[in-house]
Amino acid sequence: VNDKTLSERPTRAEFDHYGPHMGEQAPEVLAEMRAECPVAWSEQHGGFWVVTRYDDCHELSRDPQRYGNSTGTIPDLFGGLKLPPISFDPPEHGVYRDLLQSWFTLKRVQGFEEFVRRCAQARIDALGSPAELVAGFTRPFPRDVILGVIGVPDADVDLIGRMITDRMENATADQAEVRASTESLRQYMADTLIASRRRKPSDDLVSHLVASEIDGEPLGDELIAGLLHQVIGAGIDTTNKVLATALGNLAQDPAAQAGLREADLSVAVEEMLRLHAPVSVGRLCHAQSVVGGVPIEEGERLLLMFASANRDETQFPDPERIDWARSPNRHMAFGVGIHRCLGMHLARMELVIAFEELFAAFDQIELAPGGRVTFQPGQVWGASAVPAELRRR
Ligand code: HEM
Repeated sequence: VNDKTLSERPTRAEFDHYGPHMGEQAPEVLAEMRAECPVAWSEQHGGFWVVTRYDDCHELSRDPQRYGNSTGTIPDLFGGLKLPPISFDPPEHGVYRDLLQSWFTLKRVQGFEEFVRRCAQARIDALGSPAELVAGFTRPFPRDVILGVIGVPDADVDLIGRMITDRMENATADQAEVRASTESLRQYMADTLIASRRRKPSDDLVSHLVASEIDGEPLGDELIAGLLHQVIGAGIDTTNKVLATALGNLAQDPAAQAGLREADLSVAVEEMLRLHAPVSVGRLCHAQSVVGGVPIEEGERLLLMFASANRDETQFPDPERIDWARSPNRHMAFGVGIHRCLGMHLARMELVIAFEELFAAFDQIELAPGGRVTFQPGQVWGASAVPAELRRR
């Protein structure tokens, strides 16, 4: 890239999705960028493009040849570690995705319903009042679900749960620490979990992977651990953040809460996903191209802001308004194209069940007096503390 091209770039040099103001204020910052600088060059984290409009995010996601997934996080939070399938491009991507896909079909996920409900009920039963809903419910509930579906024995759930929480809360921590915590998780998987299912299979994801093959060959421990790591990494904090942000809002908006109690939850959770989309994804440009009129060079990184796409006024009339019955609602919270969220049926079920059970247990969920909802910025964005007063039925 020559200096002339650089100086002509539409720029938001200071944009940093990990900046402290990108917690609570993220929707306003993104609305301003959508209007004024929808494809913007940031100088942070080694430089990357920020893409905020619906059509641009959509188009990029549909072109995996040109915009690859080898740079999923900006900055690189995994020390170069690649997670199957999300960090791979075709053709490897499809091979790895197929290994997980059959475990997360709508039909298979429906079979998890009772288990998911038990997980929600157990956490809700243990809540006092006032309660911090992230620590007490939105974080442990999806963790219990994913670890159960994978096949982590009950006795290890707390230990592994802590490893994962440490890992998530250190999302921007130094690489050596991140590598060490990733290593201990991997070690547990290979030495304990996978080894035990190789000896004695059960009805869980680990056993399914142990029995799977690629071209007639069984999968090695490293690939299985990578796939499990992917499910843990993609399936817990995401669901946590949608639930937490939604509860943070509902605790402060009694009319929205009353509306949701009356709404068809299976439709309403789509509006929740639209408004509280937590995930943004990185892409690597493989061939010179143009996005929204802006030239992008080979080797440059882009960050697709799905949360912003979901509030794009050209796609959603009155986008800031909550409409629990909004239709159509083609939000991009789960992405689009070949990487579209593999766990979306499970995620939707968890959201529906969470609210069914919360509303059955409490007739009012309010912000605790003097309490404040706090937010965590970053590529999995959302509320990080929701202090609430709960009135049991
Ligand atoms: C509300 C909760 C969730 C949200 C908002 C969410 C969001 C996303 C998004 C945006 C992507 C696309 C990434 C890209 O385009 O590169 C994705 C991919 C993925 N998600 Fe989710 N997700 C959620 C829950 C889950 C759950 C519960 C699982 C558990 C199985 C899961 C597993 C995955 C996997 C494995 C991928 C990678 C798919 C691929 O590369 O082909 N997600 N998710």
